Amino acid sequence: MSADLAAARRLVGAPLEQVPTPALILEPAIVRANVEEMRRRMETLPAALRPHAKIHKSPALARLQLEAGAIGITTATVWEATAMVEAGIDDVLVANQVVGPRKVAELARLATLGRVIALVDDAGNAAAISAAALAAGGEVGVLVELDVGLHRAGVREVGAAADLARLVDRLPGLRLLGAFGYEGHCMLEPDREERVRKARAANARLLELVDEMEARGLPTEIVAAGGLGTWDITGANPRITEIHAGSYIFSDAFHRNLVPGFEPALSVLATATSAAGRTAVLDCGRKSIGIDRAPPELIGAAGRVRFEHGERFIHEEHTAIELDDEAPRVGDTFRLMPGYSPTTVNFYDCYFLVEAGIVTDVWPVLGRYGTETTGVEA
Ligand SMILES: Cc1ncc(COP(=O)(O)O)c(C=O)c1O
Repeated sequence: MSADLAAARRLVGAPLEQVPTPALILEPAIVRANVEEMRRRMETLPAALRPHAKIHKSPALARLQLEAGAIGITTATVWEATAMVEAGIDDVLVANQVVGPRKVAELARLATLGRVIALVDDAGNAAAISAAALAAGGEVGVLVELDVGLHRAGVREVGAAADLARLVDRLPGLRLLGAFGYEGHCMLEPDREERVRKARAANARLLELVDEMEARGLPTEIVAAGGLGTWDITGANPRITEIHAGSYIFSDAFHRNLVPGFEPALSVLATATSAAGRTAVLDCGRKSIGIDRAPPELIGAAGRVRFEHGERFIHEEHTAIELDDEAPRVGDTFRLMPGYSPTTVNFYDCYFLVEAGIVTDVWPVLGRYGTETTGVEA
C-alpha cells in the first residue's frame, strides 16, 4: 500500500468534512442500487453485460458487478487489465488496441493468469501479440475490430477485417474469439429515434463481418459492442453476445440525462476558499473534476456553478459557485456531482466511501499511468 493510501485509511471513522479536499467521495448504497438496477434491466435482454471498468478503475467495484451477473470486465488499457487480473478477476477484455513492446508483453503476461482478450485491427500488431504470447507461454484472446461508423479504430472494410480474422486464427499464441464494433458515434445522439436508427445500422455493419467470418468457418463466439447510451438497442440484438455499458455504476451530470434511472453515486468534496455574498470559490477545478460533456452540479445545496463570460466558471484549481439564498463562508464544504465520472476518477489515488456522513472505507483507484505502468523508477 502506498504511503498516501495508508494516510487516507487513517480517516476511516472520521466525519466526511475532515477529508482533505478535493476528494473523491463514493456512496456505496447508491452504487449497489445502480448495479442492481442494471442487473434487472439486463435480464430483459439477450446480450450479456461485460461492464467497462474505465469508469471506476477499481477491482472492488468490478467484483460488485460480477456478483450481479456480469460475465467479465472490460478495460480501456492494459494497465487497467493488470489491476483487474492481479486482483483475481480472470476474464478481462481490453476494448482497445494494445501496441508497443512493453504493453504487448504485459498483455501476454496477463494472459498466463486468466482469460485476457484484446482488439486487433492490424496484421503487424497481431503478429507482435502472437510472438509475445508464445514467449510468455500463454494464449491471448482476440476480437477483430471493425469500424462501424465511429471512425476511431477498426478495420474499415468487412472483407479486409475477415482477412485479418483468418490471419489471427492461424497465428500461434492467439485465439480468435470473434468480432467487435463499438457504435460510439451513436451514444450522444439526443433524439431517441435517431439513436436507435444509427445504432441498428452500426450493429448491422458489425453483423456483416460476423456473417463473413462464419462463411469462412472462423469462430464468432463473442460479438461485442455497446455502451450505456445504446444498452437497450445493441443489447436487444439477438446476435450480439455482450455489451460494455459501464457508466451506469456512478452516473453523473451527463449520463443522468442520457439514460435516466441511475443515481449519482460519485461526488467531489471541495472547500470554499474564498466567499463574497452568495458566491464562493471552491478548491476544485479542471484538475480534479471531469467536465467533459456537462458542467458539474452542486449536490445537497441549492445553487449552481457560476456561469460567466459565456461559460461555467471552472479554472484549474478554482470553481465558482453561487447559492440561491445562503451566504457561504470560507471553510464550508460542498459536494459536486461530476459532469463526467470517468475523467474525474482518473485524477485521484482513492475513493473515500461515505455512509451517513462518516468515512467507512478507502478503495484505491488503480491502473492509472505512473511508475508501475511506464517502468520509470520513482
Ligand atoms: C469501447 C467502449 N466500449 C464501451 C464504452 C461504454 O462506456 P459508457 O458506459 O460510458 O457508455 C466506451 C466508452 O467510451 C468505449 O470506449
